[in-house]
Amino acid sequence: MLEVKGLQVAYGQVTAVWDVSITVAQGELVAVVGPNGAGKTSLVNTVAGLVPAQQGRIHFLGQDVTALPSHERVALGLCLCPEGRKLFPDMTVEENLRLGAYTWRDRSEIARRVEQVFALFPQLAERRAQVARTLSGGEQQMVALGRALMARPRLLLLDEPSLGLAPIVVTEMFRAIRKIHEAGTTVLMVEQNVHQTLEIAGRGYVIENGRIALAGTSGALQADPHMRTAYLGLGA
Ligand SMILES: Nc1ncnc2c1ncn2[C@@H]1O[C@H](COP(=O)(O)OP(=O)(O)OP(=O)(O)O)[C@@H](O)[C@H]1O
Ligand SMILES: [Mg+2]
Repeated sequence: MLEVKGLQVAYGQVTAVWDVSITVAQGELVAVVGPNGAGKTSLVNTVAGLVPAQQGRIHFLGQDVTALPSHERVALGLCLCPEGRKLFPDMTVEENLRLGAYTWRDRSEIARRVEQVFALFPQLAERRAQVARTLSGGEQQMVALGRALMARPRLLLLDEPSLGLAPIVVTEMFRAIRKIHEAGTTVLMVEQNVHQTLEIAGRGYVIENGRIALAGTSGALQADPHMRTAYLGLGA
């Protein structure tokens, strides 16, 4: 479904991603984990079309999308739930959700999808008319994820959905992501919460200093000595 080949991303003189190649097959839940500043956001933002690729190619569903603007990638089903949520603070929960469906014209379909998001996150249903800035951090993350779902993604890109959330809310967020995946959406997620991410992902990549340092099934990564000491806080 997604093939990223030899990707390089730079901001002026600073290169953030070096020769990164990753794939995601239809139906997979793939993780990219790594420390602060490793290049995770640069990678997914480039896949989503928010940051240009300096070198390399991005193919989505067999089409070269490397030069395609972000909104055209969304129309193909490549949708990002960005780091830091990026909600419109003075708009309501429902208005923020509806913005995610801007490529869709069918009003009854949009209404149906709003209700699907509320079924996934019942806590949001009772807050549908509340402005986003007064929501808790967890509720804001639910709206951000819901907004990405409104575009009917075939591949959902998630950038640190658990960032800054209390442990109980993190667990709830991971449960929702697992549900979305089980319902048929392919997922590529970037996370620092390595332990819980590898519990739901089938496969993962470890990115360090802008390069892929390690790749494998979640089981293989959980058993890897470097992963256990550097990321999982376990003995080698
Ligand atoms: N807009 C930008 N301008 C200049 N440098 C940037 C920009 N965005 C990111 N960088 C640099 O690129 C590198 C990778 O940053 P990136 O945000 O991709 O990392 P990350 O893995 O997502 O980190 P975090 O876990 O903290 O979110 C860092 O050195 C960062 O300073
Ligand atoms: Mg980041």
